[in-house]
Amino acid sequence: MALDITFLGHAGFLLSGNGNSLVIDPFLSGNGLAVHRPEDLSCDYIALTHGHADHIGDTVAIAQHNDATVIGAFEICNYLGEKGIKKLEPGNAGGCIRTEFGWVAFTQAFHSSSYEGRYMGMPNGLVIEFNGLVFYHCGDTGLFGDMQMIGEIYKPDIAAIPIGDRFTMDATLGAKAAELIKPRVAIPVHYKTFPILAQDANGFTPHGVEVRELEPGETWRYGT
Ligand code: NI
Ligand code: MN
Repeated sequence: MALDITFLGHAGFLLSGNGNSLVIDPFLSGNGLAVHRPEDLSCDYIALTHGHADHIGDTVAIAQHNDATVIGAFEICNYLGEKGIKKLEPGNAGGCIRTEFGWVAFTQAFHSSSYEGRYMGMPNGLVIEFNGLVFYHCGDTGLFGDMQMIGEIYKPDIAAIPIGDRFTMDATLGAKAAELIKPRVAIPVHYKTFPILAQDANGFTPHGVEVRELEPGETWRYGT
C-alpha cells in the first residue's frame, strides 16, 4: 500500500492515496515557508493536534472549500461548529475515530492548547491508520516515557516529531523520542518556521531509526 506524504511546512501534512485524503494541522496563511495556499488543498478530512494558531491555521477555509470532516478535541470542534463547520468528529485522549481511510486515535501530548484566548481542550498526538499504514503525529509536545508504549501498541511506520525547541522538544530530545517510538521513519517537524525556533534539524540522529527530512511542499511516496 502506498501513501503520498506531502509536507505542508511547520507541522502540517497532506496524506493521500487510494482515493482518500487527510490534511493535518494546515498552517499556511502567515507561514512564510508554506508553498501551498489553502485553496490548493483538496481533502475529505482534516485532523488537528491542538488549538494553537500555528496548527488550526486555515482549517475553517479548507473545511468549507472541501466540505471536509474535521477531527479534533471536543473543544476545538465546538469552536469550529460556531464558525459554521458542519462535519465534525470530536474526540479526546485514549479515543479512536473510525474513518473511510482507517482511523484516528488521540494520544497525550505535554503542551497547552488555546486559540484567541479561548481554552481548546487538551493537546493531543494523533495516531492515524491510513490505508493500512500507521502515521504517528506527536503534535507539539515535550518528551515523555509513554512514547515507548504508544510505539509498542500502534507500531507506527512513520512518526512526525517536533524538534524546534522552545515550545517543543529540541533535536536531541526529539531523537530520544524517536528511539522510544521506534517508527521505521522519523520526520522532523516544527522547526525553521519562525526565527525563535531551531533553524535546522542538526542533531536529530536517532539510533536505529531512518530520518527523512522533507521540505515544505515536498511529496514523498511511502510504500509501494
Ligand atoms: Ni502549540
Ligand atoms: Mn505549534
